[in-house]
Amino acid sequence: MAAMALSATIAVAASPGDRTVQALMDGWVDPSADALWAAVGEVQTRDGLHVRAPRSDVAWRRLRARADRLVAGARRLALARTAGGEGHGLADASTPGTRTAAQITADIQADPARFAAAAGRLERAGLDAATAIDRKDPRALTSAGATIDAACEACHAAYWYPRTPPAPLPPDEDFARSATAP
Ligand code: HEC
Repeated sequence: MAAMALSATIAVAASPGDRTVQALMDGWVDPSADALWAAVGEVQTRDGLHVRAPRSDVAWRRLRARADRLVAGARRLALARTAGGEGHGLADASTPGTRTAAQITADIQADPARFAAAAGRLERAGLDAATAIDRKDPRALTSAGATIDAACEACHAAYWYPRTPPAPLPPDEDFARSATAP
């Protein structure tokens, strides 16, 4: 009985739903990062610069839970090997040149360590956010938020966004003309 219960738990933990990049983005990474970004910031008003920040211990604690979930999501992401769940279209799929789930999956599987390294950057930025939250330091959290954003964008640019097509090699004739043009 105990063994059965255990294997059932493992089956749930390893359900494909939480293992695709898409599921991790939508369920773990994106909402957690959004909460961190929304919690702090600088607002310029007529009276001067105001720093937005959580106002109570409870609010800081809630934010810490968001940072923890971002870090946990990044750790899961490092182990992810497929982009989208079966039958799920990826966001932005209609933008020409956006890489398909199959292409992204192939890129990840060709070099899983590279993908894990990109996820590792997000994990470290999430840990910086957690430290800033523990110190109740809005400026440090804003700065960790910027690093989080950079980690998102770097991975998206490498795996997801359209790639600039390589410049075509000019035909011999044109090459000779353009190379010798005054
Ligand atoms: C290690 C790589 C990696 C990191 C880091 C990463 N992403 Fe992604 N993300 C992807 C890939 C690959 C896709 C496109 C494929 C997909 O949707 O599964 C994607 C897609 C998404 C999507 C669209 C999901 C959908 O439904 O199609 C959102 C939203 C998103 N990312 C948000 C974020 C945010 C916010 C961060 C940072 C806090 C982040 N991602 C960090 C790899 C990453």
